[in-house]
Amino acid sequence: MISFDDPTWWRSAVVYQVYPRSFADADGDGIGDVRGIIERLDHLASLHVDAIWISPWYPSPLADGGYDVSDYRDIHPDFGTLADADELVARAHDLGIRVLIDLVPNHSSDQHPWFQQALAAAPGSRERNRYVFRDGRGENGDQPPTNWGSLFGGSAWQRVTEADGRPGQWYLHMFAPEQPDWNWDNPEVVQEFDDILRFWFDRGIDGFRIDVADSLFVHRGWVDTPVDQLTGFGTYQKFEGHPLWDQPELEHLQKRWRAIADEYAGTALGPRIFVSEAYLPLQRLVRHVRPGRLHSSFNFEFLQSEWDADSLRHVIDTSLAAHAGVGAPTTWVLNNHDVIRSVSRYGKPVSGRRFRATAGDGVSDDPHWQERMAASPTDVALGRRRAAAAALLMLALPGGAYIYQGEELGLDEVEDLPDDSLQDPIWVRSQHTVRGRDGCRVPLPWSGTHAPFGFGSAGHDPWLPQPGRWATLTAERQDADPASTLNLYRTLLALRHELPALGEGTAGISWDAAPAGVLSFTREPGFRCVVNLSDAPYPLPGGRTLAASCPLDEGMLPADAAVWLSA
Ligand code: BGC
Repeated sequence: MISFDDPTWWRSAVVYQVYPRSFADADGDGIGDVRGIIERLDHLASLHVDAIWISPWYPSPLADGGYDVSDYRDIHPDFGTLADADELVARAHDLGIRVLIDLVPNHSSDQHPWFQQALAAAPGSRERNRYVFRDGRGENGDQPPTNWGSLFGGSAWQRVTEADGRPGQWYLHMFAPEQPDWNWDNPEVVQEFDDILRFWFDRGIDGFRIDVADSLFVHRGWVDTPVDQLTGFGTYQKFEGHPLWDQPELEHLQKRWRAIADEYAGTALGPRIFVSEAYLPLQRLVRHVRPGRLHSSFNFEFLQSEWDADSLRHVIDTSLAAHAGVGAPTTWVLNNHDVIRSVSRYGKPVSGRRFRATAGDGVSDDPHWQERMAASPTDVALGRRRAAAAALLMLALPGGAYIYQGEELGLDEVEDLPDDSLQDPIWVRSQHTVRGRDGCRVPLPWSGTHAPFGFGSAGHDPWLPQPGRWATLTAERQDADPASTLNLYRTLLALRHELPALGEGTAGISWDAAPAGVLSFTREPGFRCVVNLSDAPYPLPGGRTLAASCPLDEGMLPADAAVWLSA
């Protein structure tokens, strides 16, 4: 439990991501809900998490799993009501667990009333100016205003039919066409989001994860991007100077939001916080967490690194140095609802990107690494060993960390979902060539020996089918097994509260001399973490074992394993 008196709680916190559709299903309709989260708060408390972050729970037509919001001030009826949300926040706080929710400021749903008004209104109107509408190019305006590509594939522009029935203007959508981009140059939009922040802060929400926080503003030169620029999820290139990403205007907006969060300093919950989702090279990422801007930003280079000692060490060293340079803690993460689960990634011959201390941003790989990774076969048993070891590494590093629901159960990616069950818009927009992100969003297995494992009920299957092999991975079964992944996570998170060396701590890390493939570091006072990414067992230095990712033989750390020691 964290102290609610400590305004710096987030600098060391472990935050658990809840994807509400797939977390827990209280009413048995096959779809997770807020009451399900309330009923499983004991699971979260027993894990010793400091906070939860709930992915979008707002009313939404679900064109992109809820990241297409049609009302920013309510709860999706599938999930419950605002009263349920208030009850969840109150009960979580009683247990010492803070609650963050998702802010989706880059785009709304096309069903949002303001977008519907924009469609009905004329070009140049106040209603249209809340979104990014432009005339098309070409004689009849039938070419998109620029060649910009959507992250989900295809053009980032969609043409509308005007009130008189003729083809008309185009609107910008960096994601699906059902997700029109807001016009952040419009003060009305700025004011609306100020109000949305206050609406939830006033209800006791402790902070926001900001979706695609490096987007929002668009460069008004309306210049084409280089023609060879890749589009599509995973291969999108956010080169420096890209007209859609990381625009200088973000600084002012971030400071404005920070000031709103800081207005709550005098309240019982204290100042509120932000964590930004921005897949940017490290040196650009840390600008967003400079003093007075956002509190924290996910370190995705750590998540993306391949299972390789040199690559991980490079990411760790550069991340710690870059964040120290701006006075922010590093925010580590290995999983979320957009990426292949670490258990499956690390079981693949292509397990991520290769980071190296070379020229430029330190990355040496080809832009198609995610496609190669998705296509490569998975050794789940190997991946599960490595993912447990990676958890010991992540949770020993200075700063905060995020874990994604099911990570604590060692769940693997469901890579063989039937085609007709896939819901991710990427599947359709890629003409059924990229399967998308549903495989990490399959509902959690809670109990019992066969699907639906306590999620859904007779006649109400979970919204994505669970694999039968998860029978050995249910929370119920792992609770009773002292050697389970669940109990390992409980131990690690409890130790973070007990040991002063962990979390942000007072000292950084100091690397020990170790052979190639072994990462060993100490943190004061009295803590050591050793991770063996080599093929050979590694003789452990002395010290009491605090936690281990697998059983240890006679003072040896096996391959693909990690240990925490008192030093
Ligand atoms: C979210 C994705 C979502 C996208 C568009 C993100 O980065 O995490 O799940 O599809 O933003 O909102």
